[in-house]
Amino acid sequence: MKTKLLIFGITGDLSTRKLLPALRAIVKTGDFDDVSIIGVSRREVDVAELLQRSLGSTDLLDRISIVTMNVADVQDYQRLKEQLALGDDEQLVVYLSVPPMAATQIVDFMGEAGINTPNVKILFEKPFGVDLVSAQDIITRTARYYTEDQLYRIDHYLAKEMAQDIVAFRGRNALFSHIWNNNFIQSIEIIASETIGIEGRAQFYEQTGALRDVVQGHLMQLLALTLMDIPHEFDWQELPELRFKALELLRPVDPAAAIRAQYEGYQEEVENPGSQTETFVSLELQSTQPRWLDVPIRLIAGKALHEKTTEVRIHLKKLHEAQSNCIVFRIQPDEGIHIELFVKKPGYAREFETRTLGFNFPEDEKLPDAYEQVIVDAIHSRKSLFTGSNEVLRSWQLLGAVQHAWDMETGPILRYKKGSDITSIIDGAA
Ligand code: BG6
Repeated sequence: MKTKLLIFGITGDLSTRKLLPALRAIVKTGDFDDVSIIGVSRREVDVAELLQRSLGSTDLLDRISIVTMNVADVQDYQRLKEQLALGDDEQLVVYLSVPPMAATQIVDFMGEAGINTPNVKILFEKPFGVDLVSAQDIITRTARYYTEDQLYRIDHYLAKEMAQDIVAFRGRNALFSHIWNNNFIQSIEIIASETIGIEGRAQFYEQTGALRDVVQGHLMQLLALTLMDIPHEFDWQELPELRFKALELLRPVDPAAAIRAQYEGYQEEVENPGSQTETFVSLELQSTQPRWLDVPIRLIAGKALHEKTTEVRIHLKKLHEAQSNCIVFRIQPDEGIHIELFVKKPGYAREFETRTLGFNFPEDEKLPDAYEQVIVDAIHSRKSLFTGSNEVLRSWQLLGAVQHAWDMETGPILRYKKGSDITSIIDGAA
């Protein structure tokens, strides 16, 4: 089926940094000759200049056309519909690379104009609301014109190669599927540590904070992939439902064990003395699923920390104190799976030391970027990398009590120095 890919926000930051490079990579495979790209812009766009800025070349020039319109004017959508002239043998994939408020309005206007036939799909970027109520509202609004099948909510962490590998590793390796329960697993930690700060996104981050920005979507999804049941006859299309079931069985997060903190210098950066917005979060969770009973789970996310790493760490139970093993899914960088093991220290002495048994992709094997994967999967109507509305609502529900407790707090927020390590921040909160 021919595909028209309509990108709202084609001249924006996400499009130039991620989407256009992803599209170039997809087109290069030679498998997508029937995909044409239509950018939406308020003004005329010099496509060659846009491509130079994004790709450093004019690749894709013959694929891209531009529609100029005012996205805030409902009248312009009739004209858009006519210009698209979608045939029965074509599908329209709409990528909303615009802020959330604009995205919801565009969806309304497209629906009103009748650009919602079953061969239309819509890709959304997070955040999907700011809490349970607003997420429910967005879901209800979009459901007026589009079925859940037509909606593709992107969480780019789900599309990272190693996140998908959690499923392969757990489901296809007897060595690990046997031990994936509370008989063998002591605790689980999921950590997203970034060295960068908020990178000039002051307005966005002030309204968001680490809980909404990274924990509600990215970390909850990695957790769901870690905990969910994987049936023997596994079909990737079932993934959203399997993840949802794992989220459903989590207990709502207890605010008493939640830690939030902010890096020093943040308030000056956002020009808001007294800002309570967190740039670091640590939460504890528990699952009520029998095989995860009494396995503590910790989610940690923070900016301006000492290292850039995203990891799922599975700590195994010890038979005695001198033992210790940890299985690490290294989501990024250096994507791989490692097991921290004791070995005999080579040499004449009879001593032990820890080494790593590991799997990494060879350096010359280029892993597809998450945005390539989401575009390809949306074209092929594959849903495993996208978040279902039930998953979105459940993860907001789990965080509701913490959001409420933090909204009520008036005292100054805990601060940490830029470049701190996670342990020192958590110890500082004790
Ligand atoms: C985004 C957040 O969703 O993910 C950013 O809005 C964060 O604040 C980014 O920096 C991290 O993504 P990645 O792929 O660099 O780990």
